[in-house]
Amino acid sequence: MRLSVPRLNIPRSRPDSAIYLPLTPWAATPSKSFAEYSSSLLRRRGTLLILFAPALALLFYVVRVYVGDWDDYELDYDALASLHTSYMPFQVPTQTYTPPVVPPIPTPPSYSPPVPSFVSSQNVTYQVFPEDTPPPPTLRPHSDPLPQECIDAHFAQGVPCFAPGAPKFDFVWTWVNGSDLLEQHAKKAAMHSYDSKDPWRPSTAGTPDRMYRDHDELRHSFRSVLASFRPYLNRILLLTSDFPEPAALNLTLSASWRLSQIPQWLDLAQQTRAGWKDGDVPLNIIHHAEIFRPYVGTNFNSLAIESQLGHVKGISDHFVYMNDDLYFGIPLQPATFYTPAYGIVLHFDPGLMVPPDPPTVLTKGEWRGMGESNYMLSQRFGARHRPYVMHQAKVVSAPILSEVETIWPAAFARSASHLFRETVGPATPSDINTMLLHAHFIVERAREGLLWSWVVGKHGAMDDRWGVDEDRRAWAEVSAVGVNAGGSEVTVRAGHRYTVERERVENTLRESGMDGGMGKTSYLFSSLDGYAYAGLGLGGPFKQVTPDVAEDDLPTCTISFDECFPGYSRASDVFKYVAFENPQCGDCIITALSRASGPLGLSTFLPPAERQLADLSAKIPDRSEPIPHLPLVARYDDGDFSLRGVMGASGERNVRAWTLRVLQRYRYVVGSTPAVFEMLLDTNQVAAMLQRVNEMSDTALICINDDVQKGHETTVAPLFSEWQENRWPSPAEWERQ
Ligand SMILES: *[C@@H]1O[C@H](CO)[C@@H](O)[C@H](O)[C@H]1NC(C)=O
Ligand SMILES: *[C@@H]1O[C@H](CO)[C@@H](O)[C@H](O)[C@H]1NC(C)=O
Ligand SMILES: *[C@@H]1O[C@H](CO)[C@@H](O)[C@H](O)[C@H]1NC(C)=O
Repeated sequence: MRLSVPRLNIPRSRPDSAIYLPLTPWAATPSKSFAEYSSSLLRRRGTLLILFAPALALLFYVVRVYVGDWDDYELDYDALASLHTSYMPFQVPTQTYTPPVVPPIPTPPSYSPPVPSFVSSQNVTYQVFPEDTPPPPTLRPHSDPLPQECIDAHFAQGVPCFAPGAPKFDFVWTWVNGSDLLEQHAKKAAMHSYDSKDPWRPSTAGTPDRMYRDHDELRHSFRSVLASFRPYLNRILLLTSDFPEPAALNLTLSASWRLSQIPQWLDLAQQTRAGWKDGDVPLNIIHHAEIFRPYVGTNFNSLAIESQLGHVKGISDHFVYMNDDLYFGIPLQPATFYTPAYGIVLHFDPGLMVPPDPPTVLTKGEWRGMGESNYMLSQRFGARHRPYVMHQAKVVSAPILSEVETIWPAAFARSASHLFRETVGPATPSDINTMLLHAHFIVERAREGLLWSWVVGKHGAMDDRWGVDEDRRAWAEVSAVGVNAGGSEVTVRAGHRYTVERERVENTLRESGMDGGMGKTSYLFSSLDGYAYAGLGLGGPFKQVTPDVAEDDLPTCTISFDECFPGYSRASDVFKYVAFENPQCGDCIITALSRASGPLGLSTFLPPAERQLADLSAKIPDRSEPIPHLPLVARYDDGDFSLRGVMGASGERNVRAWTLRVLQRYRYVVGSTPAVFEMLLDTNQVAAMLQRVNEMSDTALICINDDVQKGHETTVAPLFSEWQENRWPSPAEWERQ
């Protein structure tokens, strides 16, 4: 069914000046059909406005001319009324943000509860719960777990294992029209709302011109994805800004209504209750007010917006996060993002490494959020440099993102409450970089799972005891594949592995129903081969272990018994020590045990099949957690990693079966996909650059960043528009003709 689209005319010099479109509210549906209700409401208001318009116009004029101290950030009513702009009114459900109830945590003698370290000037209530305290888990399972019958063979021997069928992805674009009047007004008002002493006030007085420019990128970004990925598109979701209803419009909607931006090229007549459609691909518009927790008003901070993406209602397990400067150059396959057989595909740039230390006052721009996030990861998983996440289309696992937020709820809420990204900012804690946090969290959870499996699951005693026998057995396994380097040291060279060999991957993908195979993507490393950053150090290319790598180029490491096994008496302490406190021990153990497992699979890490946590089953009532996981703590120090500590709440008593289910949650591959990152700078450069991009016939992922120099705007704009139009000429059905 189509909604009739009522038009509300703001009576100014131009008769059809602004159009306001009521859309299906996504919350309470009035008993009367919403379409009837809103259209009659708007028609009545429209008529009233027409009647009172001349008087209003005069009043505004008098106020502007004679009231000298008209604030410079007041909304320019004249300008608003003469715009040809459509907005989308929508109703925000009453949302009160209540911090999760934190259960009392046992306080060991050495533990002092962390003091909330940050108080924002924004009047929000989320800060009552202390940071670093885990809330009760609200974990989301993956919808396509590995089938029971092959999960063991998969992890032990590298046998292909997958839930059959090709995945479908939601694509989420974040987009803001910087030229929009309400956007500019909201921004000025927000800037003025900060106290001059507030460190979170925006650091730039104005908005750079480039934010106001629009080369119609979004429309073509949509087209490029429709052209290159249609069979795997579940939905297109456009996440846009919203504003309080301006009094100038006098719609007198109730306070729970806000106006949201929509792209002005969208064909309003084609809207249905389910949104828009192009063929069988739906397009829905969603608004910041619907996903922010907490929402403190129109937000201009991309880090804040990204931190809330996991809250989109009904978002697919794996979704692709897009910006309007990203395009797909050629047809892509799911293998670029996620497949049931290989897990999520992460794209890094190890030429840029983020240090583990918290940001300082000298840390600038993007490095602040990245530094903060790597500092958080380092507190949880051990300190190390971690690679930059490529700025291209990014795939996100919704279950993993909710797990990350479960661990760091305060950091997410804090970022959400910051309206601006370019702030003066205290050095720390900064906003988080959600995409960096998410990608590395998967890699680190996978590493943690392997080491836990081997130390606690396989070698530690059932009651967590660890003694000289355990030391001896563990060291025998590590040193078996090493070369004695003198003293208590051995040197280990990684073994060749077949997991991501191209032919093997192509066959497995096709078997699993992915007819297009890998497309242009190749896999550099799999979690089924150990730890991706072992041997990465301070950067450089990823160390690969495929059979084509020369023996001498395989990563090596040295491990010392005295250094890595200094006499802890509990398995969980040995684990924390090698995994986090002295992470090079853990890295080298993984390299050695992967090699000891042979060319495929990770058998050496796994506990024997007969290990049962039997004695507790009678005592513990069934409070089984459906999703097995290691501790959800923000600092490894605070976690109980003992066998009983982690498996106690699980219905599963078999240690190996439980471990396999943990490992499968964090499967990943490091991918490499032909990509280009370019900038719009000046006329000559743009002409040459666009030509070059056209000649790269293999390039799958394209990013073209707008950084046009002063004076070149009017010449660059037509060049770039023409290029986009030539490259993606077919309009989507939702575009206005
Ligand atoms: C802001 O905080 C004060 C107390 O801290 C409270 O009285 C007031 O109601 C709050 N305002 C809003 C809009 O939440
Ligand atoms: C809005 O409309 C109402 C009538 O519906 C009128 O009484 C009021 O003065 C108007 N307000 C403004 C600011 O135009
Ligand atoms: C952005 O806003 C400006 C000013 O309202 C408008 O002219 C333009 O069409 C908008 N762009 C899009 C893509 O909606």
